[in-house]
Amino acid sequence: MALDQSVRDQMSDIMTRYPEARSAVMPMLHLAQSVEDEITPEAMRVIADMLGLTAAEVTAVATFYTMYKRRPVGKHHIGVCTNTLCAMLGGDAVYAALSERLGIGHNERDVDGTFWLERIECQAACTHAPVMTVDWEFMDCQTPTSALDVIDRLSRGEEVVSTRGPVIRDFQATEHTLAFPVDGLAGFGGEADAIMRAGLTVAKERGMSAPAGPEESG
Ligand code: FES
Repeated sequence: MALDQSVRDQMSDIMTRYPEARSAVMPMLHLAQSVEDEITPEAMRVIADMLGLTAAEVTAVATFYTMYKRRPVGKHHIGVCTNTLCAMLGGDAVYAALSERLGIGHNERDVDGTFWLERIECQAACTHAPVMTVDWEFMDCQTPTSALDVIDRLSRGEEVVSTRGPVIRDFQATEHTLAFPVDGLAGFGGEADAIMRAGLTVAKERGMSAPAGPEESG
């Protein structure tokens, strides 16, 4: 689907949220990706025209950040963290199992367009390593078996729920949320659990506090 007038109206709405319209470039790209599951050259031209930027400036943003894809992602984006902590705790094995089952490698889409697989960087979720994301929703503490079960259930059209609460929708729905984060879903899902708060809990038990900053210490 091309970026029709209704999409351009939504982009205009996004632009009003920023003192400088050009600051809207990233959510506008997410909106484009929610419509087409990729960032097309046409989308970059439309956004550049609306923001008064050059196509090269918008292209620079779309090619720098890895969440923007210039090939169709398909229905579900599967990310597997293989940074140090996740890798040590099994992230590489999770990635290998998914890669073998889907027959694709890093930044590739399967033949029927259901799954895109990607090795992703640290998601700041190391307390629950190894971490997988499905359409950017967390699946914590994965094993090869649990990860394969997730994609099998998605393939069968069954409901899959993130280990943190939200129901998995699809890649384009998540992209729309990234463009319009005030869709009521921000507070949906679990709060920080005891493992995430472990450091804070220990610090409180021991009466520890952060050192004073330069202004406080005079
Ligand atoms: S290393 Fe995987 S979430 Fe941090």
